[in-house]
Amino acid sequence: HLPRYILGIDTSCDDTGVGLVELAADGSVQVRANRVWSQTVHAQYGGVMPELASREHVERIDAVLEAALAEAGLTVADIGVVTATSGPGLVGALLVGLMYGKGLAQALDVPFYAAHHLEGHIFAAASEAELQAPYLALVVSGGHTHLFDVPREGDYVLVGATRDDAAGEAFDKIARLAGLGYPGGPAISEAARRGDPDAVPFKEPLRGQKGFDFSFSGLKTAALLAHKAGAKPEDLAAGFERAAVRFLVGTTLRAAQAQGRETVVVSGGVAANRALREAFAASPVRAVFPGAGLNTDNGAMIALAGAAALRAGRAPSPLSEGAVAYAP
Ligand code: KG4
Ligand code: ZN
Repeated sequence: HLPRYILGIDTSCDDTGVGLVELAADGSVQVRANRVWSQTVHAQYGGVMPELASREHVERIDAVLEAALAEAGLTVADIGVVTATSGPGLVGALLVGLMYGKGLAQALDVPFYAAHHLEGHIFAAASEAELQAPYLALVVSGGHTHLFDVPREGDYVLVGATRDDAAGEAFDKIARLAGLGYPGGPAISEAARRGDPDAVPFKEPLRGQKGFDFSFSGLKTAALLAHKAGAKPEDLAAGFERAAVRFLVGTTLRAAQAQGRETVVVSGGVAANRALREAFAASPVRAVFPGAGLNTDNGAMIALAGAAALRAGRAPSPLSEGAVAYAP
C-alpha cells in the first residue's frame, strides 16, 4: 500500500518551493498544493547571490510549508513521504531544503527520497498526462537546455545540450539588451506580438549539425548588432522568439524521429512560452506540458518525481545523501 500524501521541497536556486501531491491507490497523481516564494533580493545585483539565496531559504521555508499545508487542507501528520532536491543547483541553497526535508522525515518517521532537479522538471508534466516511457524530454529553463531520451522509466540518456547559454538565459539577456525588463521570457513574448519577425535577420544556429545540440550565442550576437543599428525592441523580440522556437522545436523533432519517439515532454520555465507550445502542438509528435505553475522551479514537481520513484518501487535515499552542485 502506497502512502497518500507526498511532500516535495525545492531550494535549488532562488525559489523556495514546497508542494504536496496526492498519490491514489490506482497510482494516479494529483497536485494538492504548490507554494513558491520567489526571492527578489537578487534583482539589485543582476544575478543570483548564492549566500543571500541560502539565507532567504532558511528564513522562508517554514512559512512556505505552512502555506502549502493550508492550501491542501492538511497537517504535517498527513505527510506520508518527503522528497527534496539534492542537485544540481547552488550547494548552500540546496542544503536548506535537503536538510529540512531529512529532518522532517526523521521526525515524522516516514521515508525520505532525494530528487534530481531535472527529473522534477520532467515529472512536472505528469500533472497533465500519464507519463509512460519511452519518450523524449526537453528541459528548457534559465539554467538548463537539455534534451533527454527516456527509453524506460528512470533511464535518462542525454542526447543534446546547450553549448553556451541556456534558452531562458538567452531570453533574459536579449530582453535586458532591448530594455524590455525581467524576467525576459514573458517580456519578449509580449513585445513580440507587436513586432515584425522579418525586420531583423536571425540565422538558424548550428545549421547542418548531425547531433541535437543547442547554441544561443549566435542569436545573441545578431540581436546585439541589430540593437546597435537601431532595431525596434518589438522587432528584435519577434525575430528572436521565432528563431529560438524554430530551433528548439526543429532540433527536438529531429531527435524524436532519430530515436523513434512519439511523445515529447517539454518543461522548465521556457515551456510556458506560447509560441513554443503552439509550434509543438502543430507538430506530428504528442507534446506534453506541465500545468499552470509547474513550469518554473517549484516543490510539486519534486513531489511528482517522488511519486514516480515510489511507483517504480525505488528504495528510499539514505540520510547521508548530500547536496551536489553538478549532478550528471
Ligand atoms: O525553470 P525556471 O523557473 O528557473 C530555472 O531553473 O532556471 O526558468 C526561468 C526561465 C527564465 O529565464 C525566464 O525568462 C524563462 O524561464 N521564461 C520564459 C517564459 N516564462 C519564463 N521564456 C520564454 N517564454 C516565456 N513565456
Ligand atoms: Zn529549474
